[in-house]
Amino acid sequence: MDNGSPSKTLTFPADFAWGVATSSHQVEGGNLNNQWAAWENQGRIKSKDCAGFACDWWRNAEKDFDLAKSLGVNALRLSVEWSRIEPSEGQWNNSALARYRQMLKALHERGIRPFVTLHHFTNPQWFEAKGAFADPQSVGLFQRFTQRVIGALGDLSRDWTTFNEPNVYVSLGYFLGEFPPGKKGRILESAQVTKNLCLAHAAAYRTIHSLQKDASVGWAQHYVVFKPRKPESAMDRWLCGFIQRRFNNNFAESIQSGRAPFPLNKFGQNLHEVNGACDYIGINYYSRLRVGFAAQSAKTLFVQISVPPHKPQGDSGIEVPYGEVYPEGLRQAVEHFAGFKKPIYILENGVPDREDRIRPWAIESIVEEMRTLLAEGIDLRGYFHWTLADNFEWNEGWHLRFGLYELDPATQVRRPRSSAQIYQRLIKQSSFPATMSGPSVSGTPVSTQNGFHGALKEIDAQSRTIIAENEGAFGK
Ligand code: FCB
Repeated sequence: MDNGSPSKTLTFPADFAWGVATSSHQVEGGNLNNQWAAWENQGRIKSKDCAGFACDWWRNAEKDFDLAKSLGVNALRLSVEWSRIEPSEGQWNNSALARYRQMLKALHERGIRPFVTLHHFTNPQWFEAKGAFADPQSVGLFQRFTQRVIGALGDLSRDWTTFNEPNVYVSLGYFLGEFPPGKKGRILESAQVTKNLCLAHAAAYRTIHSLQKDASVGWAQHYVVFKPRKPESAMDRWLCGFIQRRFNNNFAESIQSGRAPFPLNKFGQNLHEVNGACDYIGINYYSRLRVGFAAQSAKTLFVQISVPPHKPQGDSGIEVPYGEVYPEGLRQAVEHFAGFKKPIYILENGVPDREDRIRPWAIESIVEEMRTLLAEGIDLRGYFHWTLADNFEWNEGWHLRFGLYELDPATQVRRPRSSAQIYQRLIKQSSFPATMSGPSVSGTPVSTQNGFHGALKEIDAQSRTIIAENEGAFGK
């Protein structure tokens, strides 16, 4: 590879997966049989919303598959809902599997390659009642579920993600108490859950390969760029390093080294059998956060997470700033997992931005980052924008809007944000080398050289014109 400055005209590989990402509970709607529906019912969502009909995919995912096709994506990430497929322990719902077959076929008919996730935060209620992944039996139960899914859908997909963000599932569910089961500060239980997730992942990895020789199997690791709030403070630096190791390495480290998660590794436990169980690294990368020591915050173990107000950021969550949008951080994320020496997919990246203030800049910039990384020889195989249309955002409910399309959940009306067309153009331009001169909108190059504010102004003006010109026509 060329060591000089990376060529801006480099095209993306022809088989690069350009996609959008979704998950069953957030888009399907009409399911009351998982632990998230129960959590919503208990009023635990900050906005007090519930998923309801979500994006109505269970009845009509095909409507959004048409939108995806109009964007020009060639890949789409979706998950299968365990609570639909095995509504009671050991009882299988074949009509649910048939509906997933229909959905995967509908994607193929549109020239879109499905990437299927087996577990995206949701558990059937019967499984949650047994202790979910805190219970060692969970490994066998998940393996049996995997076997069913591959048996029923294996001819329609070869790209599988076992778990979505095990580090988020564990931190928010067992440490911060924001996701079900809502437990707080459970260090040992967090490690046990992580251990069982690793074992379940490895069991699923082997099961899939035993049924499908050419399968590509991995998991999606959430990666956050952490930075000390005051780089001159030794305490901030230490805390930052600690959180960085505990969060970003959680799960990944065990797969890479076969060591049990902290603190179980301190008791001599190991996980030899999970070592190396992946064909690719899936990274979900969104943001950068500052970490500082706060003497008064005993409740948060003296850690304060913050985002400097002048940094580019999407909309705030109901209680906290969501994070700094920091596209350059993709390099750090990719380098962090270089030791695996595996192909990399960016399985999620996006920003909550109801008014589409900074999403256009964020998309332009992340594509530019990927272009640079590819030019340096990084084996990047795909990018999935989170998400196609606004959907139910877990503990934030409908408050945070990540869609390329704005969705009104009550009427199910979708309207393209300017970012939809920008993503469409980037995909098109990135596939054709001769015409490349850097990302552009409406034929006018947008320069990211002038930094965030310069690019933002340019894109904003151009995208408003495009949207006005195409109002009503785009996406049909
Ligand atoms: C990720 C989740 C995904 C979505 C985005 C915004 O952490 O995997 O389901 O909620 O955040």
